[in-house]
Amino acid sequence: ESEVPSFIASNVSQYSCQRKTTLNNHNKKFTDAFEIMAENYEFKENEVFCLEFLRAASVLKFLPFPVTRMKDIQGLPCMGVQVRDLIEEIIEDGESSRARDVLNDERYKSFKQFTSVFGVGVKTSEKWYRMGLRTLEEVKALKTLKLSKMQKAGFLYYEDLVSCVSKAEADAVSLIVKKAVCTFRPDALVTITGGFRRGKKIGHDIDFLITSPGPREDAELLHKGLLLYCDIIESTFVKEQLPSRQVDAMDNFQKCFAILKLYQPRAENNSDNTSKNFDVAEVKDWKAIRVDLVITPFEQYAYALVGWTGSRQFGRDLRRYATHEKKMILDNHALYDRRKKVFLKAGSEEEIFAHLGLDYVEPWERNA
Ligand code: CTP
Ligand code: MN
Ligand code: MN
Ligand code: MN
Repeated sequence: ESEVPSFIASNVSQYSCQRKTTLNNHNKKFTDAFEIMAENYEFKENEVFCLEFLRAASVLKFLPFPVTRMKDIQGLPCMGVQVRDLIEEIIEDGESSRARDVLNDERYKSFKQFTSVFGVGVKTSEKWYRMGLRTLEEVKALKTLKLSKMQKAGFLYYEDLVSCVSKAEADAVSLIVKKAVCTFRPDALVTITGGFRRGKKIGHDIDFLITSPGPREDAELLHKGLLLYCDIIESTFVKEQLPSRQVDAMDNFQKCFAILKLYQPRAENNSDNTSKNFDVAEVKDWKAIRVDLVITPFEQYAYALVGWTGSRQFGRDLRRYATHEKKMILDNHALYDRRKKVFLKAGSEEEIFAHLGLDYVEPWERNA
């Protein structure tokens, strides 16, 4: 007599890499509240509680129906006490007082503002908060504050960068990046990864993976004139190094966290000819856009693609699954079988899932 007869809660895996999660979220009311709680714990550097809420959010994103009674979550994995309390509150009152308290919390509000600046993470926010700073206006007004090159760019292009990137902008940037890369390496393969590869219509940045067959690794990849800001991290990958076991493994690829200047002529503004000879020259005809460029050796491309396609939670669960269910170690470079003591080569994402004994999950089903 259940609403969705084919759905059996106890069959739901605790690993999001064994679930198919599209962008069709039937439980946004709950998952939004979980993500607020998780972010607050992230700001407090409480990884355990943060992950507890992120895992729960990921399970509810996968559910093919909206939760309306506590009975609906019976038997589901990742439903700890804190999570159940929040769900109960939302079912009864339509919202969570706990999530609302977080949204009104002074520390949370400050951290939320601070981390919205490119180059500012939890560590910097903590420092600023301890100095008594509470808003971005206060940070900007404090002229003695030392900012990194990245943070300066973050403040300079703040308005553009907080406004989201659209699919159309991603496609336009994609053409520019492909053209620029191909002047250096005509045989290069340029792929959009991140949220846009998972089918999202908006994002906070655009992620690109760049590879080309052949041995060379190229430093000079993009026209300097194209980039407003570029922080190049040199590759630190060591061959034969075991994959990293951290929850959020940072990889060692050469990468560039950049801000790209996307020219977008102001459409239709010219038809209003009263303004023609006045401030036309002052009108900003471009938008600053955050772009991540990752350069990968050809043999590691498939692993980098899985890692950079995300979602972040999907990647975490893939690595956790590899470690705990397969005695393997996975990161963005490689998969290592600890029993056989060998690296498992893969030329495609499908092969990686197969090595792990997992059914293939399409990119648009990885929105965990
Ligand atoms: N990633 C990674 N190593 C990093 C940074 C990011 O492997 N140093 C991965 C993340 O785990 C994520 C993917 O790259 O799965 C994309 O990261 P990000 O751009 O932060 O997130 P998106 O899913 O693209 O979402 P958004 O629209 O906010 O950009
Ligand atoms: Mn559905
Ligand atoms: Mn992204
Ligand atoms: Mn990114």
